[in-house]
Amino acid sequence: MNELDIIKKGVPEHIAIILDGNGRWAKKRLMPRTYGHLHGANNLVEIAKYANKIGIKCMTVFCFSTENWSRPKKEVNYLMQRPLSYFRKYKDKVFNSNVRISFIGRRDRVSKEMLADMVETEEKTKNHTGLHLVLAIDYGSLDEINTAFKKMHQEIIDGKLNLDLIDDQTVYNYLYTSQLPPLDLLIRTSGEIRISNFLLLQLAYAELYFTETLWPDFDKNELLKAIESYQKRSRRFGGLKEK
Ligand code: IPE
Ligand code: MG
Repeated sequence: MNELDIIKKGVPEHIAIILDGNGRWAKKRLMPRTYGHLHGANNLVEIAKYANKIGIKCMTVFCFSTENWSRPKKEVNYLMQRPLSYFRKYKDKVFNSNVRISFIGRRDRVSKEMLADMVETEEKTKNHTGLHLVLAIDYGSLDEINTAFKKMHQEIIDGKLNLDLIDDQTVYNYLYTSQLPPLDLLIRTSGEIRISNFLLLQLAYAELYFTETLWPDFDKNELLKAIESYQKRSRRFGGLKEK
């Protein structure tokens, strides 16, 4: 199918991406891993622009996990510095666009400068009505659930939450993603077939798509291929297929 036909058929509302393969992409070019991260970051900007153009409402992207701190210091520094220079470079463009940006993950381990940029970006774009780009930075699903448990526990003690009234929706409301639409499609690049502590609960009924393509090579045609695959799935959410 061509681009227009795929878009006309209806794009998923919420896509999550585990962008993977930056290091291998650089290695193939005999370049340092950070070169791969640079191209990966540039690619994210392109894919976000395209996702906005074709009407995807929300895109949640795994940029840095709670486990990524164990990488060599040089790489961690690069991965944590990169967003800062990006915010500064694209700040005016983003603030004047219709793209909304927010962040999920821990906020107590990122630098003060980075946190200030994150808060400013969220504040300045909060009423934007185009693509909602959600960047997962220092995010881990188990950490998210741990945080949610502790918060719920404290609110029960304080009498703000009634144990008997906690249902599935209540649990969801305590996750970082409580304000986001349900997840429709997860894409992971680079041939790894695992979830790596990303959005474990949110993935309950999402469709999964894995591709061998390394993240810096994942272009708009690759995104369209993933969407086309999604459109062929029969989503039943545990029920039966309607006639
Ligand atoms: C993904 O690429 C970048 C991050 C989200 C940290 P990798 O750095 O994991 O690249 P590979 O898997 O080593 O090729
Ligand atoms: Mg990897």
